[in-house]
Amino acid sequence: MREQKTKADNGTLLIRGGRVIDPAQGLDDVLDVLVRDGLVAAIRKPQNASSTEARSVVDASGLVVSPGFIDLHCHLREPGYEDKETIATGTLAAARGGFTAVCAMPNTLPPIDSRSVVEFVLQRAREEGHVRVFPIGSITRGRKGRELTEMAELAKAGAVGFSDDGDPVADPYMMRMALTYSRVTGLPLIEHCETPELSGGVIHEGWVASRLGLKGIPSQAEEAMVARDLALAELTGGRLHLAHLSTRQALELVRRAKERGLPVTFEVTPHHLTLTEEEVLGLRVRASPFESLTPLAYDTNAKVNPPLRAREDVQALVAALREGLVDAIATDHAPHTLVDKVCPFDEAAFGISGLETALGLVLTIYHQGQVPLSRIVEKLTVGPALVLGAKGQGLGTLKPGTVADLVIFDPEEAWTVDPQKFASKGKNTPLAGVTLKGRVKYTVLEGKVIYDDGR
Ligand code: NCD
Repeated sequence: MREQKTKADNGTLLIRGGRVIDPAQGLDDVLDVLVRDGLVAAIRKPQNASSTEARSVVDASGLVVSPGFIDLHCHLREPGYEDKETIATGTLAAARGGFTAVCAMPNTLPPIDSRSVVEFVLQRAREEGHVRVFPIGSITRGRKGRELTEMAELAKAGAVGFSDDGDPVADPYMMRMALTYSRVTGLPLIEHCETPELSGGVIHEGWVASRLGLKGIPSQAEEAMVARDLALAELTGGRLHLAHLSTRQALELVRRAKERGLPVTFEVTPHHLTLTEEEVLGLRVRASPFESLTPLAYDTNAKVNPPLRAREDVQALVAALREGLVDAIATDHAPHTLVDKVCPFDEAAFGISGLETALGLVLTIYHQGQVPLSRIVEKLTVGPALVLGAKGQGLGTLKPGTVADLVIFDPEEAWTVDPQKFASKGKNTPLAGVTLKGRVKYTVLEGKVIYDDGR
């Protein structure tokens, strides 16, 4: 156990001798972080061990200290689908994953499409939540795509953005109107990019779909919607954020739009950065289409939307992260019950339970030497804070005077994923039994240790 209580807690916490990575301040150095009354009081050169004014001390030597991770995209399922997840279990999973703030998607029952549901989510978060919860309102009433919600009213109640996630806003006129109204709230419209007429499959349309006889979702289903939305953002001057991009060409479309100065942002998920379509074969190496299938083929835990794509797409996403084109890494934590997943592949729900594996999974590309650690931390902290605009102000950094939300992790510690040990109700992960390198040791919210791996 690394935490030592020296005297009665007086609201000060010293995190001693960790590698502090705070990309918002360009910091990457071995430093002490002093927390007082829930705020970052100072970041300074490591001091003599005996000369501390802090009442609680965490020895962070050999560990990384960074701002708490912010997840722009997770499904907490409450209200309505409490069998899959609740605000209590989902936010506990978040704390264990190093997240101190999560944005809750509105595909609940009822959807977050009225002031009262926004208020309900915020109230449940106050009562039961372990981390900050930012509700995302739906763009259309009932997420049905026919009428806009009262976005300004939802924003006033506390919504930080709008999305019909799980579904796109299929009607381009509706999306045009929504983007126009986003200029009033200034909040992002978060699009799930999938052209329904081109979709309808269950995994990526590629060689694995052919080999397994499953209907594919072509990359173009995503790319056509990205192209449409970029055109509409340009037309309206609205604020567009593209959720979980997964294809090489989608990245190229966004790159060109950003080069033209469009204020569009986008996120990628840890699973799309690391896993390929071959996951559905139950293999983690590229198999030949002529090899026999193993009993692990048709793994519904690898069924997710957008689907795990081809190796070329994964490489393009990693390159985009490395160069800084990506704005944020978001989990798309999508917990489901056993019966949602232990069923015929076509009938299984889309989604991966991702909050508790996000760090270890995304650090795979750091350990492979593909992306520096500071870039990954940036896109889990200040990156998402910037996407949230005014609502993210003061988060995603350890600047003195800001709220002391932070995570302390060991980038080298290896551990084996056991979904039965997840705090999340969703045990649905294709990573069961996989050894990941990178483990959260402590999560601190407003100066209080809310998760301690040693306890
Ligand atoms: C999401 C869910 O389960 O809510 N699933 C997922 O695979 N990402 C919604 C969705 O289908 O996008």
